Amino acid sequence: MAVTEHTGTRVKTRVPALSLRNVEKAFGQVTALSCVNLDAQVGEIHFVVGDNGAGKSTTLKILAGMHTADAGEISLNGTPVHFADASDAKAQGIAVVHQNLALVECLDVATNMSLGAIPKRGFMLDRKAMEREAEAVLSDLKVRVGSVRTQIGLLSGGERQIVAIARAVRMNLPIILLDEPTAALGVRETAHVGEILQELRRKGKTVICISHDLDFVFKLADKVTVMRLGKSVATLTADQARHDLVVGLITGSIDAAQIEKRSHD
Ligand SMILES: Nc1ncnc2c1ncn2[C@@H]1O[C@H](COP(=O)(O)OP(=O)(O)OP(=O)(O)O)[C@@H](O)[C@H]1O
Ligand SMILES: [Mg+2]
Repeated sequence: MAVTEHTGTRVKTRVPALSLRNVEKAFGQVTALSCVNLDAQVGEIHFVVGDNGAGKSTTLKILAGMHTADAGEISLNGTPVHFADASDAKAQGIAVVHQNLALVECLDVATNMSLGAIPKRGFMLDRKAMEREAEAVLSDLKVRVGSVRTQIGLLSGGERQIVAIARAVRMNLPIILLDEPTAALGVRETAHVGEILQELRRKGKTVICISHDLDFVFKLADKVTVMRLGKSVATLTADQARHDLVVGLITGSIDAAQIEKRSHD
């Protein structure tokens, strides 16, 4: 079995749309990431899994320009990049849906979806364009939230989550990062998010998604990177990603190096 063990060496033939090499990050005395490697391709749904505190959100925030790595390299299409801040990462093609949603409760759906890219006519907010755009994106994603004038605070947790995803999809950027997009969702809404991810894949986007929901992961993943204690320990392809193996890598009862060794014996 050809499990990619993360040794920091470049072994891929296709240039990844997004690549992390030996990324490290500490917060004061806390080492959040000690060695993270990840390669995600165009048109791929790439899951990142791992226990609480494994470093998944920190990795995503580095990719979203919210944290700066202490060491290591990020590349987009083979070119090393640096993100000054979140808007710089966005300008370089990265959209993100965070674990804590970052929607403004007192504003309506349409305004929330436009935050960061509000349509204007001259200096004036173009309210009609904003509503039209929000309606178009939501209907494209088959999302029903009543009116786009509904205040976000009045929606259910699941509906808010879908609006947050719709906002990121609206940006139409090549890379989309999602941190636990189904955590607050019921079965039907989870399936709906799955359909949205598949549609993004069909459109050739690179989707990187953190999830604890392994059923969701196995249903959709092209690749699964397992993180443990601040390290990416292995990346598995869809056919390698068996439940027991992934759980073993997450908990540490299976060592990626041993799998690699066994497969060569
Ligand atoms: N801003 C911060 N300041 C200090 N420590 C932090 C900060 N952000 C994360 N950490 C620490 O870094 C480690 C990794 O956290 P991170 O949020 O990346 O984990 P996670 O894999 O996303 O976990 P979860 O599944 O619970 O969301 C944890 O020990 C956490 O306490
Ligand atoms: Mg997290």
